Amino acid sequence: MTVHGGDGAGTDGVDWDAEAAAFDEDPDHGLRDPRVRAAWAARLRAWLPGRPGDVLDLGCGTGSLSLLAAGRGHRVTGVDRFSAMVALAREKLAGRDAVFLVGDATAPPVGEERYDAVLVRHVLWTLPEPDRALRRWRDLLRPGGRLVLVEGVWGTVSPVGIPAGRLAALLAPLSGRVGVERLSPDTALWGRDVDDERYAVVAVPD
Ligand SMILES: C[S@@+](CC[C@H](N)C(=O)[O-])C[C@H]1O[C@@H](n2cnc3c(N)ncnc32)[C@H](O)[C@@H]1O
Repeated sequence: MTVHGGDGAGTDGVDWDAEAAAFDEDPDHGLRDPRVRAAWAARLRAWLPGRPGDVLDLGCGTGSLSLLAAGRGHRVTGVDRFSAMVALAREKLAGRDAVFLVGDATAPPVGEERYDAVLVRHVLWTLPEPDRALRRWRDLLRPGGRLVLVEGVWGTVSPVGIPAGRLAALLAPLSGRVGVERLSPDTALWGRDVDDERYAVVAVPD
């Protein structure tokens, strides 16, 4: 992965347009391995509403999770700041009930639309004001809607990310129910053993 400091880079310093073509090569990104895909499909089945609804996938990347959500009958709106990612997501979900927009996850260009679930994987930790982003995402939910956040802390020498305890604390004022699931032990999700902190949070605001 190439980290840049200037124009064209995200708040994590990565030029995601430059990363887009190779993004799906990582097992948990492209979900090309049937075992990895099945592991994520099972998790999403548990995390997303049981009935088909409207799902907003923020920082959707190439749309791998969007595709699984669409496969469960959900109508998907994906938003990503980087147009090369959006182009690949559109290609991946061609013919599905899904739209993809170029925009910032902290201010998604969705007008007055509201969603049954806001799904965000591996994006929140890069945002400069995660508490503000969480409030905005909470406001995009319909009554009874949920936030599904997949995050972690990566690396051991110079770890980056957001620990589960910190995210749960940020969600506490917004959400009556916050469930944290540890994902590191489930090697099928990653296509290999991992020993850093990886988790998902499902939060249902009051
Ligand atoms: C690690 S990738 C995760 C992609 C996807 N969520 C997944 O799990 O496959 C991070 C994604 O967030 C996007 N991104 C980074 N900062 C963003 C922002 N402020 N608003 C929207 N998308 C952003 C990048 O373009 C990239 O597609």
